[in-house]
Amino acid sequence: MFQSNKILFGLAVFFMLMSFSASAQERNVALLASSCAACHGTNGHSVGGTPALAGLAESYFVVQMQEFASGARKSTVMYQHVSGYTQEEIELMAAYFAKQ
Ligand code: HEC
Repeated sequence: MFQSNKILFGLAVFFMLMSFSASAQERNVALLASSCAACHGTNGHSVGGTPALAGLAESYFVVQMQEFASGARKSTVMYQHVSGYTQEEIELMAAYFAKQ
């Protein structure tokens, strides 16, 4: 009896931590994405001549970011922009913009 209470308590703590880190990550990615808004529009809904990011396929997004970084895809400004992000952040943003 005592033992199973400990297990339940452990599970409760585990799920609390899981949900906490998930929401912290969501806030983080919204913050990351907001630095793209100046050119790509709010949440990637571009209004100017810049390509829209909203609704781009995740895999396409990640590949474009890698090619900007490597120079395989020529760019005016994106080359400078990609350099500040880790692979994990790029994947988070890819998932975020795909949902917009
Ligand atoms: C200073 C303006 C500016 C900012 C800020 C900016 N971009 Fe861009 N982005 C561009 C331009 C312009 C292009 C077209 C390619 C080029 O000339 O660099 C582009 C292209 C892209 C593309 C390719 C889209 C396609 O349809 O092929 C992706 C993906 C992208 N940007 C992601 C981002 C992300 C993610 C951020 C924020 C971390 C960001 N950009 C911030 C200007 C900007």
